[in-house]
Amino acid sequence: MTALQKNILIGLIALTSITIGLWAGMQNTQKPNPYAKIGGEFTLTSDKGPVSLSDFKGKVVLLYFGYTHCPDVCITSLTALREAMNKLTTEQRAQVQPLFISVDPERDDAQRVGDYGRFFIPELIGLTGSLGQIDKVAKDYLVVYQKVPGKDSAIGYSMDHSSILYVIGRNGSIDSLVHHGDTVEAITDFTLEALAK
Ligand code: NI
Repeated sequence: MTALQKNILIGLIALTSITIGLWAGMQNTQKPNPYAKIGGEFTLTSDKGPVSLSDFKGKVVLLYFGYTHCPDVCITSLTALREAMNKLTTEQRAQVQPLFISVDPERDDAQRVGDYGRFFIPELIGLTGSLGQIDKVAKDYLVVYQKVPGKDSAIGYSMDHSSILYVIGRNGSIDSLVHHGDTVEAITDFTLEALAK
């Protein structure tokens, strides 16, 4: 097992524990938010200027971490997100803000990540930042990512990254997680659930 695989496993175990915590929490009448300790405010750069999570208070934010050179995982995830968005009514859709944060800020400048986001979903705002900023927000959201050198230097490198969609409620707290491989219906259902709160 490589160091990256270990890191991803640790990340998955952490998130699974949180999911079990959610289930346990649902057995209580109190229903504490199991995601209370992850996530939180950030300010990053879009091609239209700085963007903070708190800019969207009152809306449901659908947040995904990836990178524009991704050969497969991001395309699958953003295509599913687009299909889920398309299932919403116009009124519901106006209350939902999709965000994409690049874990490859060295290649993804604001223009590139902005164009990439809009290519998938017109409202999707692509965000980038300094290496330090991205590292901080990734840690806050328990996102694991790592640069993997290409065999051919002409190809450059790829980024391994965890693939989770964060459904963030109107109050800015994480409401639910949608894991890679979950269905379009799962994204729609969790989004509608967050919209109903
Ligand atoms: Ni990707």
